[in-house]
Amino acid sequence: HERQDRRHSKQRLLVVANRLPVSAVRKGEACWQLEVSVGGLVSALLGITEFETRWVGWAGVNVPDEVGRKSLTESLAAKRCIPVFLDEDLVHLYYNGYCNNILWPLFHYLGLPNEDWLATICSFQSQFDAYKKANQMFADVVKEHYQEGDIVWCHDYHLMFLPKCLKEQNSNIKVGWFLHTPFPSSEIHRTMPSRSELLTAVLAADLVGFHTYDYARHFVSACTRILGLEGTPDGVEDQGRLTRVAAFPIGIDSDRFLRAIQLPQVKNYIKEFEERFGGRKVMLGVDRLDMIKGIPQKLLAFEKFLEENPDWHDKVVLLQIAVPTRTDVPEYQKLTCQVHEIVGRINGRFGTLTTVPIHHLDRSLDFHALCALYAITDVALVTSLRDGMNLVSYEFVACQASKKGVLILSEVLISIQAFFILAFAYVTISKSQGSSQEIDALLFEFAGAAQSLGAGAILVNPWNVTEVAASIAYALNIELNDTVVEAQLRTTQIPPVLQTEHACDRYLRSNNRLLILGFNATL
Ligand code: G6P
Repeated sequence: HERQDRRHSKQRLLVVANRLPVSAVRKGEACWQLEVSVGGLVSALLGITEFETRWVGWAGVNVPDEVGRKSLTESLAAKRCIPVFLDEDLVHLYYNGYCNNILWPLFHYLGLPNEDWLATICSFQSQFDAYKKANQMFADVVKEHYQEGDIVWCHDYHLMFLPKCLKEQNSNIKVGWFLHTPFPSSEIHRTMPSRSELLTAVLAADLVGFHTYDYARHFVSACTRILGLEGTPDGVEDQGRLTRVAAFPIGIDSDRFLRAIQLPQVKNYIKEFEERFGGRKVMLGVDRLDMIKGIPQKLLAFEKFLEENPDWHDKVVLLQIAVPTRTDVPEYQKLTCQVHEIVGRINGRFGTLTTVPIHHLDRSLDFHALCALYAITDVALVTSLRDGMNLVSYEFVACQASKKGVLILSEVLISIQAFFILAFAYVTISKSQGSSQEIDALLFEFAGAAQSLGAGAILVNPWNVTEVAASIAYALNIELNDTVVEAQLRTTQIPPVLQTEHACDRYLRSNNRLLILGFNATL
């Protein structure tokens, strides 16, 4: 019976990430409100149904008292979440410090924060010690909940030490580690004082995954150049032990969005928004308020566009949803002030008594309102300076239905997304067991499609404010009809436009199952 039960029960998966998929807000001594957490990692992993999943992560809140810890643990258990309690001082050094002031900017090629770099270097060792301590605390919680045969899937730059801690506890645990940010060129990684320790700790995992082949390649070269290890086509070898390294690009759960736009509450929102913004073209930005998202650069481009196109002043509105994040980190506080200042200036310069050109919100929207906004948008602006894998463009396309919206997309993202389509095609085709010749032929076709993905969006360098302003003007002025779109998709001469009936299909091949199933099957 037991054997039969085991055959029928799902594989257990312990997902370990710094942030749980729900964040807790305290409402009383033993009373908690749980809200869905924001960020790419959570959206990527939401809705795993193929595994019996438990999620281990930081509760996102300081809970010094036993009563609070016990009641929060119980509330989270209902969501299959297991909290790791970290005290305030540790969070300050580990999360605000080492993770978000050092690793995050370096992994996104932003360097160390400019003004307080001296302080950052001086506090480096204490932050790194806190980082290791926090990783060990995550490992201790995993140990308490681990059952033989579980897969332990560690996530992101917060937990690079975790594979090592877990293997030291039990060398038989199957451990995977996946990075949701870029892994930078080895030239950047080698500037980290803790460069070798970080790499060695990650290599303790059985499988190491990245969004793209480039990130995987950077990681392998860092291991070769910094640790002197051998890189093989399968990964990195150290004294006969192989750590597999591979790319598992992420997409969205497109069905969730396609279903949502049919819901009455979303249709109500659409009606409400159309009435509210009626007569004006709607431009949309949806980002965490993070320097990698390029929000100030985007606003400056919009300001330049308004300066150069007075006819558009009362005919367009930019809705910028900027979700606050890491608000205790000084760089993020500075960014918030900077963004507010620019928005205020633009609205002051170009607003009238009844309208302003920018509606800026410092908060997230509920899922249905967000889908409705995507649906009514004429021009979406996804202009990150660097991003692991930005999913807003996919979400926008998924919600456009028959509307012919235009996507202005950062150049740095296009190769990532093109790669993604290619990889997805490969996996799908391999699974359908086509002959290798068929696979090659189809791959070739998809490679072509991937290259022409650029034909689905207006590509911009987000640092080039003049170019982005010109692209905004182009996107707003273009009259979309099928003939124009067809022509644009066929030629590379005219800046192309995303048109859902043509390009959507390719984008919607994206699916978060590729990451979830692909990674765990390989592990
Ligand atoms: C990115 C990171 C995630 C993180 C998310 C939100 O997507 O890759 O690991 O959870 O940002 O950031 P936060 O610091 O609020 O968890």
